[in-house]
Amino acid sequence: MRALIHDPHAPRRLGFADVPAPRPARSEALIDVHATSLNFGELAYMAERLPVGAVPGWDAAGIVVAAAADGSGPPVGTRVAGFAPGGAWAEQRVVDTANLATVPDGVDLAAAAALPAAGVSALQAVGRLGPLAGRRILITGASGGLGRVAVQLAAQGGAHVIAAVGSVARGTGLTELGAAEVVVGLDGVAPVSAALDNVGGELLAQVAGLLEPGGIVQAVGKASLQPTTIDFEELRNRNGNAAIAAFAVQPPFGPDLAVLLDAVATGQLDAQVDWQGPWAEVHKAAEALLERRVKGKAVMRIGTGG
Ligand SMILES: NC(=O)c1ccc[n+]([C@@H]2O[C@H](COP(=O)([O-])OP(=O)(O)OC[C@H]3O[C@@H](n4cnc5c(N)ncnc54)[C@H](OP(=O)(O)O)[C@@H]3O)[C@@H](O)[C@H]2O)c1
Repeated sequence: MRALIHDPHAPRRLGFADVPAPRPARSEALIDVHATSLNFGELAYMAERLPVGAVPGWDAAGIVVAAAADGSGPPVGTRVAGFAPGGAWAEQRVVDTANLATVPDGVDLAAAAALPAAGVSALQAVGRLGPLAGRRILITGASGGLGRVAVQLAAQGGAHVIAAVGSVARGTGLTELGAAEVVVGLDGVAPVSAALDNVGGELLAQVAGLLEPGGIVQAVGKASLQPTTIDFEELRNRNGNAAIAAFAVQPPFGPDLAVLLDAVATGQLDAQVDWQGPWAEVHKAAEALLERRVKGKAVMRIGTGG
């Protein structure tokens, strides 16, 4: 089958190759991939984290062509989306059925492919912020794929959402998604009960300084690629007992993915697909994402669609 592989000599380390089709384990379904999305983490850390020759890709949506041998999960012909640590940027992939969800009628596979990593991480991270109703919740990197889902979920939970972005243009659409304030940088932002930080670096230190006593920041990402220096002595004196948590998304992903897909089906959630194209244009998609030109998600069509 055709697949994208980690090729250190190709642009953005992504080259096309013919590779053997994946062989499902007993708890895995085999899926014909129709759409897949790109995530900051898989692109930014490919050199360090993905073996040369391996097929990247966490998110995919498509059709089950072989159900799991252990009898779990959906039957052949079901439209599904799944989240696994690799293998999605290919004509076929396997996913453990615990990390798979059925795509409801009326939800297109491009939207479904946008949701696994970014959406499930947003859902779990927002869930760890504590009560939302009436509280001031700060979300940094709100313009990105994870951020745009987190803004919607926190606002629907009744929070006063402050969406922090890199420029006015990057914040387009966030008010419509439920943000009460869209801010460029954090100067002048009043203290918050909790925060979800996608950017890291100096911004995370600033976010920690904005927490009310007892507040928490879920440090979700490091899109700045910069480490953070935090003066804990100053933090404890100023915001007694504020907490900084290193968030990591946890399996099983299927149940959370099903929640998100149902919310898309009922019109409560928008997956925020901003860039769509055939997988032949993977380099364009990767560049747009890493150069902060995608407001939400980039989705590639694979197989007949691509
Ligand atoms: N912990 C976990 O389990 C987990 C799971 C999924 C994702 N993540 C991480 O969460 C973060 C957000 O993921 P995502 O999919 O939403 O990524 P994304 O779509 O690329 O969004 C990242 C956002 O960060 C901001 N940013 C600030 N400085 C940046 C820089 N130097 N380069 C790129 N972006 C920068 C950008 O907003 P502006 O342009 O408006 O500044 C951008 O919209 C990533 O760091 C990712 O690795 C973590």
